[in-house]
Amino acid sequence: MTGVAGVSDLEKLLVVGASGLLGSKIMVQARGRYDAIGTYNPEVDGADLWRLESLDVGSKDEVEKLFAEVVPNVVILTAAMTNVDACEKQPVVANRINASGPALVARACKSAGARLVHVSTDYVFDGTKKRKYVETDHPRPISVYGSSKLAGEKSVLSSLPTAAIARTAVLYGWNPIEGKENFVTWSLKKLRAGERVTMFQDQHISPTFADNLAGALLGLAGTDASGVFHVSGPDCFDRVVCGKMIANIFNLDENLIIPVKSNTLSLPAKRPAYSCLDISKIEKLLNRKMESFESGLRKMKSQESKKR
Ligand SMILES: NC(=O)c1ccc[n+]([C@@H]2O[C@H](COP(=O)([O-])OP(=O)(O)OC[C@H]3O[C@@H](n4cnc5c(N)ncnc54)[C@H](OP(=O)(O)O)[C@@H]3O)[C@@H](O)[C@H]2O)c1
Repeated sequence: MTGVAGVSDLEKLLVVGASGLLGSKIMVQARGRYDAIGTYNPEVDGADLWRLESLDVGSKDEVEKLFAEVVPNVVILTAAMTNVDACEKQPVVANRINASGPALVARACKSAGARLVHVSTDYVFDGTKKRKYVETDHPRPISVYGSSKLAGEKSVLSSLPTAAIARTAVLYGWNPIEGKENFVTWSLKKLRAGERVTMFQDQHISPTFADNLAGALLGLAGTDASGVFHVSGPDCFDRVVCGKMIANIFNLDENLIIPVKSNTLSLPAKRPAYSCLDISKIEKLLNRKMESFESGLRKMKSQESKKR
């Protein structure tokens, strides 16, 4: 009879960016499957949730020191500067975190012989296509965020061709850290306060339930598949449709969703008008379907009622 595996029998998983929305979900789902250690960005407080180590992913010394201490078998790299407008205003910082950081982590994985899954974005595309983007489509970013993430992908694959890159899109779910918002939690906050919520009618996206993505990434980490994979929700909706679905599923007033054209607002960074992803490659590899927006929202609703 096989005994229950103790922590020491499990492979070591390092989640770089465990205090973020996606990283936190990976930490939760890795329990019992891996001996998991996560990192947080030392410039931000509030990461005392699990076994977390501080790491500035842009620092070669810190990355090397952490890898020497942890000696991971598997690494999932979710850390990034994710605020698209902040990236536009601070391109040097964005490139340090989103491009140099992944290069350092990939090199450290190579030295440690560790499996790497690196998380990237739909914003590597320019949004001019009218059908879902496949992995072989040519990336052409239109923002600093997108170009810094594309540079990160390239440096990872050039140092470590066995790595897997998971491009995802518009993450949502309950965030473990108070005060951090995503598309859905921000919309819920406004709708519950009875405030009008303006949403772009001309931006098509594939919303991705962070809990579901975390499971898919752990699945991908367990394979030896390499190269680029699109890993998002299966839908392709404009943001107004998304807003109305949020309102309806949470029994809120959908009339508070106000459609606007994206060119009516002047934001620092350009966003692709269409960035839906074709996910057939990952669904075939993992032999599972990614979760729809409707299903993810219903799960969020039931998770919230269990918390109360
Ligand atoms: N959010 C989206 O809609 C979206 C869409 C497409 C792709 N993605 C990609 O998905 C991944 C996860 O996104 P997310 O929404 O979970 O991100 P998030 O909630 O913003 O979390 C980002 C993580 O990166 C960490 N971090 C930031 N700067 C760092 C630094 N200099 N050194 C080390 N760690 C640092 C943060 O630490 P602190 O929490 O301590 O700051 C946090 O753990 C990212 O690679 C992102 O590019 C996200």
